[in-house]
This record gives sequence, C-alpha cells and structure tokens, in this order.
Amino acid sequence: MQNQKIVIIGGSSGIGLETAKQVISLGAEVVIASRSEDKLHKAKEMLGSRAAIYVLDTSDEQQVKSFFEKVGPYDHLIVSAAETSGGSFLQLETDQARKLFENKFWGQYYAAKYGASQLSTEGSITLFSGVVAYKPMIGSSALGAVNAAVSNLGQTLALELAPIRVNVVSPGIIDTPSRSKMPENTRNQFYDTVAHKLPVKRVGLAEDVARGVIYLIQNQFVTGTVLHVDGGHILT
Ligand SMILES: NC(=O)c1ccc[n+]([C@@H]2O[C@H](COP(=O)([O-])OP(=O)(O)OC[C@H]3O[C@@H](n4cnc5c(N)ncnc54)[C@H](OP(=O)(O)O)[C@@H]3O)[C@@H](O)[C@H]2O)c1
Repeated sequence: MQNQKIVIIGGSSGIGLETAKQVISLGAEVVIASRSEDKLHKAKEMLGSRAAIYVLDTSDEQQVKSFFEKVGPYDHLIVSAAETSGGSFLQLETDQARKLFENKFWGQYYAAKYGASQLSTEGSITLFSGVVAYKPMIGSSALGAVNAAVSNLGQTLALELAPIRVNVVSPGIIDTPSRSKMPENTRNQFYDTVAHKLPVKRVGLAEDVARGVIYLIQNQFVTGTVLHVDGGHILT
C-alpha cells in the first residue's frame, strides 16, 4: 500500500471513509469523492494531508469521465457511493426505483468504465452490492435488484478488464450514517432484532467492511469474487 494512490468514490462517509482511514494508516494516499462539499471537508479534516477531495455525482456520466481525467494514473478504485431507499413494491413510485438504479448501479458502472483506463494493470476495482441481493427482504425489491446487478457487473468485469482485478463487497446490516434517517429508537430496535438473528449476535461496523475491502485490494489472487461481510446474514 506504501505510496499507492487509492480512489474512493463515496469516501466522505461510512464504509468509504473508514476504508480511507485504514489505507492511509498503511501508507497510501487517497482521493475521495462525493456530492457534498461539506461532507468532503469534514472527511479531509479527519484524514489529513494524504487525502485529496473532489466533488462528484456519479449519476452524471460526464462528471465521472472528467473526474478520472483530473485524477490521472492511480492504483486502486473503490466505489462505495450510494444513496439507498426502500418501500413496498406496490406503493413505491417507479421514479424512486429508477433513482436507485441511477445512483447505485449506473454510478458504479460509469466509475468502472471511465476509471479503468487510468488504473494500474496491477490494480483493482472494488464495487459494492449488499445483503438484500442474496437474502430478499420485504421492501427491498428495487435495491435487491440493483445490488444483484452490481454483483453480476463486477464478476463480468473481472473477465473483461483483466489483468485488473475486480471484486464486489456485499455488506450486511452495518451501523453507518446511511441509516441516520431512521429515528434513533427505531434504529436501535432494528439493530437489536437483526443482531439477535445473526450467528455473530451483532450488527456490523464500517471497520468490519473496510477490512474486507483491504483484503480484496491486497490479495493478488482474488478476482471476480463477492465477499459477504454480513455476520452470517445470508445463512439466517
Ligand atoms: N450500511 C449498510 O447497512 C449497508 C448494507 C448493505 C450495503 N451497503 C452498501 O455499502 C456502500 C457504502 O454504504 P455506507 O453505509 O458507507 O453509506 P454512507 O455512510 O451513506 O456513505 C455513502 C457515501 O456515498 C456518497 N454518495 C452517495 N451518492 C453519491 C453519488 N451519486 N455520487 C457520489 N457520491 C455519492 C455519500 O456522500 P454525498 O452525500 O456527499 O454524496 C457518502 O460519502 C453502499 O453501496 C451501500 O449501499 C451498506
């Protein structure tokens, strides 16, 4: 990792931010990107001089293309950017389901498409799926489909973009700011219910998933895999 340049789109919060902290502690430099300037500046304060920040909305293809032109050559790409939501299939507005695809699927698609040409041939791409692709849940029809699409995209790209390695992380229920829209009481009850059902008896932390990402970046023999960091959720 020493002096490697790692691009983390979605690196201003949650799993992406924690991954940035961990790779910096291993000697890397990071470029973090997301939509909110405010979040990026707060992240930069935490990460220090080895982090550069860029405002970027991955659902805008042109922005993604010019972002990578500005970034130049680099060693690894991680795309944890996503804003997700749910809702019962019959009630969910079709537009909301489309927005999920625009944000989480097409965002990662554009990042891989325009990020690949500047990426070291010894480097890697890590995309993000999620447990609802593998353990269908009521209220997650669109998100489950998005996550399943990302997993398949990642595995196909492992063949097409080789020798660049491409892997996918599938987090379970992780306590990150993405869940802050839920009122605290409801959120804690939800975490307790999930923890009780899981073999590991707790929900995940951003640190748990970041360690999985680092494994995928560092292990040169791993490509085309979907790494489930979910406390055994898909077995329940
Ligand atoms: N947390 C969980 O329980 C869980 C479970 C399953 C899967 N996952 C997946 O894990 C990944 C990371 O999630 P997290 O929990 O770390 O989320 P998070 O804390 O909300 O962080 C998401 C990051 O993505 C950025 N972002 C969102 N939309 C973007 C866009 N269109 N363009 C650029 N940046 C964008 C956000 O910043 P801005 O607002 O500044 O853009 C933020 O930095 C996501 O793919 C998520 O779906 C998480």
